[in-house]
Amino acid sequence: MLKIGIIGGGPAGYALAIKMAQKGCSVVLFEKEKLGGTCLNKGCIPTKAILHSSNLIYKTKALSTFGIDINTDNFDFSKLIERKDTIVSKLNKSLGMLLNSYNIEIINEEVISFDKEQIITQNTKTACDIIILATGTVPAQIKGIEADNQFIYNSDGILTLEKLPKSILIIGSGAIGIEWSRIFADLGVEVTLIEAAERILPIADIDVSSRLERLLKKKRVKIEKATVVEKIECNEVKLSNGKALNPEKVLVAIGRTPILPNTELEFKTNKGFLDVDKNFMTNIPNIYAIGDINGISMLAHSATHQAIELAEYLTQNKQPHFTQKDIPSVIYGTPEAAWFGATEQMLIESNLQFKKVLFPISTIGKAHAEDEIDGFIKILTNEEKILGVSIVAPEASSILMQFLVAKENNLSYKSILNAVYPHPTFSEAAFEAILALDNESLSLPKIKE
Ligand code: NAI
Repeated sequence: MLKIGIIGGGPAGYALAIKMAQKGCSVVLFEKEKLGGTCLNKGCIPTKAILHSSNLIYKTKALSTFGIDINTDNFDFSKLIERKDTIVSKLNKSLGMLLNSYNIEIINEEVISFDKEQIITQNTKTACDIIILATGTVPAQIKGIEADNQFIYNSDGILTLEKLPKSILIIGSGAIGIEWSRIFADLGVEVTLIEAAERILPIADIDVSSRLERLLKKKRVKIEKATVVEKIECNEVKLSNGKALNPEKVLVAIGRTPILPNTELEFKTNKGFLDVDKNFMTNIPNIYAIGDINGISMLAHSATHQAIELAEYLTQNKQPHFTQKDIPSVIYGTPEAAWFGATEQMLIESNLQFKKVLFPISTIGKAHAEDEIDGFIKILTNEEKILGVSIVAPEASSILMQFLVAKENNLSYKSILNAVYPHPTFSEAAFEAILALDNESLSLPKIKE
């Protein structure tokens, strides 16, 4: 029986452990902290639990619009945090039980070294036929602005806040910076968001960036673009644009860096991330790397999909197709932003011919019923092929998926029109947006010739 040693129990490691056990392998999973990795313990799940609370506060502030008159000024931050901790610990326990049900051996210790044949912890030495590194990443730091969990925090430490500050400066407007800006702003904290690039969320389509900027400004978030922190002295933050700020707290959210257990093996790396081939194998035969650590894309769903493809490769010799896949991105909050594939700037820069539509969500009846009219569906196509889709709307993460399923199966964008969409829903905006690509929308006025 093939013996697999997996280092790291996050979405990459635990998904692979389950898959390999399902295929009849003997699996040992090493985790130094809690099962579930960054996603469950310090990322997706706890932040979405907090975001759900702050979102409810945002919604209740607007209740009078819906004819409901309730005083919503009071909320208990400690209960919100307690709820987040309960959710995480419940999911931790279920994950342990899930892995136990597959007879996966879990060694809850730090790996102190490993080579091609064995993995060593303080109390164990395990011989393995194949080793998989799924050790993830930790928050990146800015030199001289390291987290002290007193004044300066990173995305791990911010989850341990016991009291809301009056003001916060958030450095970096990626997914973490934007989601925490939304959380703090809805909880009544004064937020300043600074971004080194010319626009916020620079990896997204330009229309997503500008709409999110507008939405954040509506929440009174102050935004400083093309700006970095020059220095912090006695809790005064000096910005490169000459301004000086005195926030109560600072959150650094400028990306993540990889972590690798101690080893004498010489791995080939790229900016610290492990180089892998199309089968996720590192330069050392028999050692594979999946999830954040290989730097392909630092998202939980990407890690899980890599695990599935690697398991099928190792047990059935099925060739992975991961590098050809579009990985969806989502920014949570109200409204969500979600996208995959090409952005308009990418297509312009590569001189590719494309057709585009930016369909406003405000044409949809459900958007008015729920007072959520700020958003759009943007579709970029070439001939009948979908090149990329970006959405800002309630349920954007779900609406996006029909386009992605069509693209991954090489279907024409028109194939989406074969389905009857229920009314009233946000999803019917997808149908209408496709019609609008060919100027055939039933919701938009005739274009003047
Ligand atoms: P990120 O790499 O997505 O964004 C960091 C931002 O900080 C960039 O826009 C960059 O231009 C800016 N920046 C870098 N250095 C700066 C500086 N010195 N001053 C000002 N701005 C600076 O990183 P983030 O947001 O920390 O997220 C880390 C990882 O976690 C990402 O891969 C992200 O996709 C993932 N994540 C995903 C979530 C989701 O899917 N909703 C939620 C949270 C994290």
